[in-house]
Amino acid sequence: MNKTACIVLAAGDGKRMKSHKPKVLMNVLFKPMLGWVLDSAEGISPGEICVVVGSGEEQVKKYLEGRGRSCTTARQAERKGTGHAVMQAENTLKNSENVLILCGDAPFIDEETVLNALKVHTEGGCGVTVITAVPDDPFGYGRIIRDEKGDLLKIVEQKDASKEELAVKEINSGAYWFNSRALLEALPKLSQSNAAGEYYLTDAVSLIRESGKRAAVSTAQNKYIVLGANSRTDLSSLNEYARERVLAELMEGGVEIPCRDGVIIGKDVRIGQDTVILPNTIIRGRCRIGSSCEIGPSSLIESCTVGDGVILNNVQAYESVVESGAKIGPFAQLRPGSHIGQNVKIGDFVEIKNSNIGEKTSVAHLAYLGDADVGRGVNFGCGCITANYDGVNKFRTKIGDDAFIGCNTNLIAPVEIGANASTGAGSTITENVPADSLALERADTKIIEHWEKNRLRKKK
Ligand code: UD1
Ligand code: CA
Repeated sequence: MNKTACIVLAAGDGKRMKSHKPKVLMNVLFKPMLGWVLDSAEGISPGEICVVVGSGEEQVKKYLEGRGRSCTTARQAERKGTGHAVMQAENTLKNSENVLILCGDAPFIDEETVLNALKVHTEGGCGVTVITAVPDDPFGYGRIIRDEKGDLLKIVEQKDASKEELAVKEINSGAYWFNSRALLEALPKLSQSNAAGEYYLTDAVSLIRESGKRAAVSTAQNKYIVLGANSRTDLSSLNEYARERVLAELMEGGVEIPCRDGVIIGKDVRIGQDTVILPNTIIRGRCRIGSSCEIGPSSLIESCTVGDGVILNNVQAYESVVESGAKIGPFAQLRPGSHIGQNVKIGDFVEIKNSNIGEKTSVAHLAYLGDADVGRGVNFGCGCITANYDGVNKFRTKIGDDAFIGCNTNLIAPVEIGANASTGAGSTITENVPADSLALERADTKIIEHWEKNRLRKKK
């Protein structure tokens, strides 16, 4: 779709949110509303996506960069209305045949709705096609006034509407397809003579119609596409709706959620069949979770890839990979950059950071492994620690296959333990240990007899 473009309006401030962030960066299921809108825009592969930025411009641009997909931006220096915002993206209009306009604060617009409207728009040879909806409460939205043929006559904003117009239930979603040239011709004719004193994009609709082109309506099947948020309470409602929708989709795909309490799963999470998600579990970011896993209760999994048959019980895991059959928890943390091999066992009060743990290795209790490369079949006794940081630099610890690390071993990095080697309980290992050997670093036991008697005598 090279001759189409998309302009996303994202310059508004959203004062009622009482936030340091601009409104379009407020999260729904941990993802900025703007991100939801851009996902849908990208889904139809337009030739260009231009985001109009203004309030919190730096933050919005930073978010766009972090997203890593290309889009252009246009700057709206002052908030003078939606029509004025579109004027700033003049170049995008000049370089396209049809343009999709979306609001950055209405996250649930979807590709299907947009493509249905494009069909109406192109097949009808329209100057503009407005995506409309019939929500439960039309308050605050622009009302759709149709002519006798059912085409669009005009859009009247809440503030400017008569009593009869306010009775109309069909509203403007804020998403439209415009013929780019028709819109370019209409924009300079917009005026600020309305209740808000703004340049309304909605006035372009009647201007295009007056110029002899068709103004059509495409009614969305899903009334939620219009939902936006002006306050934290609105945002909470959007989250609740999105949460239920994501959970329903997952369950339809074979995921088991016996109780939804506290289960929040982001829109970019994929979960395989027969995986069970238990209460108080948050899964967010780009997560891929395999089938027949048990995740939760009370877990937070962020941007992780998890294989099949994995158990994560009371686990916090960030930006890590967990291979099939691994069993982690309760009360364990995987910090970014951890790669947990197949059938690994990680037990209670264990923290793993930026480490590779080979298959079938066991770290059953009370351990910290940071910056470590651990082979397969290694056993860590209770309380083992890699001392990876000397206060200035970080160093790695290497442990060969089938090594046995005794309880309470401190491994002072950089250090290497060979395959099949053992360390004695309580040792602080500062030198490399060759394969198949035992390293012991502790003083011989000293027994002082009759110690108690001496102590009592001193006391007297
Ligand atoms: C707009 C529509 C209304 C529609 C509603 C749907 C107009 C005049 N009205 O009203 O018919 O029912 O959306 O949600 O268009 N923005 C800018 N710069 C500005 C003003 C707004 O970029 O100067 C952006 C905002 O960030 C937001 C979008 O445009 O993402 C919509 O603006 P908003 O002020 O929320 O418009 P509404 O009053 O909701
Ligand atoms: Ca709005």
